[in-house]
Amino acid sequence: MASPSSPPVIVVGAGLAGLSAAYSALQAGAASVRLLERAAKPGGNSIKASSGINGAPTRFQNVAEYGVDESFWDDTVRSAGSRLHAVSVAEPIKSQRQGLISVLTNRSTSAIDFLVDDLGVDLSVVAQLGGHSKPRTHRGGAGKTPPGASIVTTLLAKLNEYGGDDRFELMTKTEVTKLLLLSSSSTEEVVVTGVEYRPQTDTTTNTQTLHGPVIFTTGGFAGDTHGLLAQYRPDLAGLPSTNDPRPGTAHTLLAAAGARLVDMESVQVHPTGFVDPANPPLALKFLAAEMLRGEGGILLYRGRRVVNELDTRERVSEAIMGLPLATASAASAASAAAREGGGGGELRQWDVQLLLDPGTTEAAAGHVGFYLWKGLLQKKKVRELDEATRETLREYASVVRGEKKDGLGRVAFGHWKLGVDGADIDDEAEVCVGWVTPVVHFTMGGAVINEQAQILASELGEEQRPIQGLWGAGEVTGGIHGDNRLGGSSLLECVVFGRIAGEQAARATLKADA
Ligand code: FAD
Ligand code: SIN
Repeated sequence: MASPSSPPVIVVGAGLAGLSAAYSALQAGAASVRLLERAAKPGGNSIKASSGINGAPTRFQNVAEYGVDESFWDDTVRSAGSRLHAVSVAEPIKSQRQGLISVLTNRSTSAIDFLVDDLGVDLSVVAQLGGHSKPRTHRGGAGKTPPGASIVTTLLAKLNEYGGDDRFELMTKTEVTKLLLLSSSSTEEVVVTGVEYRPQTDTTTNTQTLHGPVIFTTGGFAGDTHGLLAQYRPDLAGLPSTNDPRPGTAHTLLAAAGARLVDMESVQVHPTGFVDPANPPLALKFLAAEMLRGEGGILLYRGRRVVNELDTRERVSEAIMGLPLATASAASAASAAAREGGGGGELRQWDVQLLLDPGTTEAAAGHVGFYLWKGLLQKKKVRELDEATRETLREYASVVRGEKKDGLGRVAFGHWKLGVDGADIDDEAEVCVGWVTPVVHFTMGGAVINEQAQILASELGEEQRPIQGLWGAGEVTGGIHGDNRLGGSSLLECVVFGRIAGEQAARATLKADA
């Protein structure tokens, strides 16, 4: 362990990446960790995660049914799209991107083992999300806390055990405003020596400083509607979001310290945010977790399926956004509230229905109970559905029975049961339906890192120039997911790269001691 006089490892941002980094730094022998968080509470967007975390192969996957899962890397590479595969992508860029994907996928088994065995999180249920060729997204069993909240609260509790002997301190309402830099005139290298921060309780403009190696885990900019999002993707103006409004100032701080930002235009639009029938114009939406489709749910537009619901998010969203916008009345009522909620301008929503049959409802019971309670899903008897929908259900059941191929290419049906016994669909069966629309959800772009989670001052594909004293993990980083992140891979990147960053930063303090 580092000597008690060693500097603390400074972690900025208390979402899952920050908590993972903080924990691993302490485990690796850092004398102390200071975790600085702008919000009043820790958790960031991580605490809202509801579908789960990817891992392959793991002991929770059903090998008897699906075989050993060896395709996670391939699926991730495929999903990265043109950022990796365009003919114009030079070989060194390709191999750097692929290297990051290898770290992510190769360490996914140990990430799940760490969460389950070392921390005691339940991740025993596995679903297949869009763009994945096998079920590999892990969450807890029915009645358990959703995965984001359970991982975050467990890690926080573990970290607080170190608080007793002062090795760990979480400083909330504390915004990091600057990185402290030391430039070497001989090597032209910049070294990060700490941070400047402002406690929000301090009503003056005074800032304070903290010295030590720094790990940036400040999350993405999908909630920075009028800032980075408007700058990089003005075409997404008016879409609702799953992210709380939040300024993306951390990216600017990193860039000011020399960090290179990459893929900033790659913004993920998730196909299914719930439109609350009691308040359709709200710009901040509850997510209709992708696992609802993974467990069997289908999407309907005027009673017809329009897309393979388990294609990548990018393609499912594109298919929906190619449909006519929701009716003028909803859209215009929307605009005022959109501005109120930070959306600005006309709110753009589509009128798509998510339908869960009894098998899907049962498999996703914990989530469904919550959405029913919030009024985001409603129960209906099959006989109450319109004829176009009932016809679609009959046709779909024959696909699930294996009598014909799905014209839209869906091959995994989760736990869909309605009509699979060969009889006509049961009029008295109860389904759940809800209104969903595409939502801005995640930003693939951010600071370029290397496989040791060091933030780089060099572009992808160039000779790597790590900024000494600075690491990054989680959504603030870029280069891993390319055009499209697979569902479940964000929690994974937080754990994998957060742990690497924590260990590396702790080692730096140990080296300084030696
Ligand atoms: P965050 O969890 O967002 O944490 C960043 C923290 O940094 C925040 O608390 C912020 O306040 C703080 N911060 C920012 N700037 C500063 C500053 N200057 N000073 C101090 N603090 C600062 N991914 C999955 O893999 N599986 C899922 O099931 C899943 N479900 C999701 C559901 C929802 C509704 C949402 C919104 C996202 C979901 N995601 C999911 C995505 C995933 O949750 C996030 O991408 C991921 O958790 C980001 O983690 P992070 O630690 O990088 O950032
Ligand atoms: C979801 O639950 O649909 C979100 C999962 C993710 O963003 O990885």
